[in-house]
Amino acid sequence: MKENRKFLQFFDNEDYEKEVPESDEQKKIPPPPFERPYPKDAILIDLVSPEDFKIGKTPLLNIVNNRKSRRKYTDDLLTLEELSFLLWCTQGLKKELKSGLGVRRTVPSSGAKSPFETYLVINRVKGLDPGLYRYISFSHKLLFIKEIKDVEKTIGELSYNQKFVGKAPVIFYWTAVPYRTEWRYTVLAHKFIAIDLGLLCQSLYMACEAIKLGTCAIGYYEQNKVDKLLELDTKDEFVVLVHPVGKYPKEKKVTEFFKNPQAKVKSEDLSKLVGTYTKDKSVVEIIFKEDQLFAKIGDYEEPFTPYNETEFEGEYLKAVRFILSSDGKVEKVIILNSHDDTTELIYQESESS
Ligand SMILES: Cc1cc2nc3c(=O)[nH]c(=O)nc-3n(C[C@H](O)[C@H](O)[C@H](O)COP(=O)(O)O)c2cc1C
Repeated sequence: MKENRKFLQFFDNEDYEKEVPESDEQKKIPPPPFERPYPKDAILIDLVSPEDFKIGKTPLLNIVNNRKSRRKYTDDLLTLEELSFLLWCTQGLKKELKSGLGVRRTVPSSGAKSPFETYLVINRVKGLDPGLYRYISFSHKLLFIKEIKDVEKTIGELSYNQKFVGKAPVIFYWTAVPYRTEWRYTVLAHKFIAIDLGLLCQSLYMACEAIKLGTCAIGYYEQNKVDKLLELDTKDEFVVLVHPVGKYPKEKKVTEFFKNPQAKVKSEDLSKLVGTYTKDKSVVEIIFKEDQLFAKIGDYEEPFTPYNETEFEGEYLKAVRFILSSDGKVEKVIILNSHDDTTELIYQESESS
């Protein structure tokens, strides 16, 4: 593990010559193309051009303050303008360098090498057939590649069973074409590519927030299977990040979840709630220590802030409500998931005890 850290570092001047080999650029080998070629006779689909965007005027501070990972998407379709906006903000091409050595885009890239391609799995975009597409940034158009069967199930499974990924109207797949950066930077390229990728990721988060769409970076995906689905060779081009995008539902406020007014809470009331609560496959252990209540799920433990003696705020479990019987025993435990704002009954006395 510690060996792998090295790729995040750079070199001192005196080590540079020893560690960094002669590059293909220094060997006068011509640079690779900055967009993956596609068949000459392919029919490309027009996108809305950036000068015609009517959306995306949200002030930066609102975008920054509201940005978060959003994992629940409504059934709404995305419009072509929304999709065009997201593609432009993440990989829009502003100009090709006259030298032929790189491109300027709406996002920075080390040496202007821009070592990425954008693939889209489209589920629900107005006017587009579902399937796999690629963004052709040089002409700001879309290339249809193929249909994908059982999209929701396939994409969910390939994301380590994170089912919400397959439910999004559009899923971005960014691939790296490392040689574009290696051509100049050789062994230094990989740190730069990782940084470049972070810029894409944040740009998509910000662009989504600007037009009230939600997204979540997905680092957990099955590399070889996803590459196969996208018809990539996994050596010269492979997926590096996945991003589902969609409209997000109105968020439930924690205060809407709670039934009782806020009140002071005594330690003895908190300790009555201690126990292991189980329903279906959910197991939540409620622990009381140092005058505070904690929820433990697997190895993960989080403290709760009492709202009153039976209602608590958390982070992973956004809120928890205990319902007591007349003799003070826990009858039901209901949680509000922070992941997707759904309410879930995780314990019911008659079923579990
Ligand atoms: C590179 C990267 C990979 C991530 N992978 C996942 C993932 O596989 N599943 C997931 O639910 N969230 C994933 N996330 C989202 C993080 O969990 C999230 O950004 C973090 O908890 C902070 O929350 P926020 O984005 O709402 O501020 C990833 C984020 C990044 C930047």
